[in-house]
Amino acid sequence: MALLEMEDVRKSFGGLQALSACSLEVEEGSIAGLIGPNGSGKTTLFNIVTGYERIREGAVRFRGTAITNSTPERVFALGIGRTFQLTRIFTRLSVVENMLVATQRHEGWLRSVLRPAGSASEHRRAMELLDFVGIARLADAPAGTLSYGQRKLLDLACVLVADPSVILLDEPAGGINPTLIGLLAQRIRELNRQGKTFLIVEHNMEFVMSLCHRVTVMDFGKTIVSGPPDVVRSDRRVLDAYLGTEEADGDEAP
Ligand SMILES: Nc1ncnc2c1ncn2[C@@H]1O[C@H](COP(=O)(O)OP(=O)(O)OP(=O)(O)O)[C@@H](O)[C@H]1O
Ligand SMILES: [Mg+2]
Repeated sequence: MALLEMEDVRKSFGGLQALSACSLEVEEGSIAGLIGPNGSGKTTLFNIVTGYERIREGAVRFRGTAITNSTPERVFALGIGRTFQLTRIFTRLSVVENMLVATQRHEGWLRSVLRPAGSASEHRRAMELLDFVGIARLADAPAGTLSYGQRKLLDLACVLVADPSVILLDEPAGGINPTLIGLLAQRIRELNRQGKTFLIVEHNMEFVMSLCHRVTVMDFGKTIVSGPPDVVRSDRRVLDAYLGTEEADGDEAP
């Protein structure tokens, strides 16, 4: 049984069919990749799994139990964490304060009423996680001064606060410089060795193909191919989806 399963998920926004026939299985302990051209529906699928969008058709299951149309809070409480394509950090708070807010969010409102300020142990844990993602030196900087890539790393650290068993990352490497991309890949592998399962949306092919055990490709709201990176990389349908070569098939270059 797959840890996380999406079966025949469909979603339309008004007249636009954003997802049709979307099926995907993520095995426990794996790093799964989800790729596809812009607008193919990757973020929409993440939103459905994590409770930010509702569906009328299809099912989402976690450990074999339906979690279709759960609230974001419930999904999060089950141990499914996510980052957002556009990061959601508090720009006027410092980097470490963002981490402490994430701690409070994780522990719930009662905790924040009883002990509003971050304790020494929470602060220490926050610093450990910032160090883990490579931005500890920026702990006291206002989060608004971080580069786009550094914000992505802060977003990841905020997700790790809750110690989720599954982590969905929406374009974690986008806008990050090559050195930090290397560090990010290393950290994801390390977390995976500790038992965490990943589903990663990313346009950086080298990153996806070197990191993921299995890759699923979406095109026009459908999952079209799923398999090990080497198989997916050479699949004709994937080339067609990215290059739009289907109609030009067999044509000679002028
Ligand atoms: N809330 C919404 N209302 C209307 N249309 C939406 C909404 N969210 C997504 N869409 C549309 O659904 C389709 C899929 O969008 P989605 O953001 O899931 O694609 P994506 O694969 O994540 O693209 P990208 O790689 O550019 O991030 C697009 O046509 C998009 O415009
Ligand atoms: Mg997206």
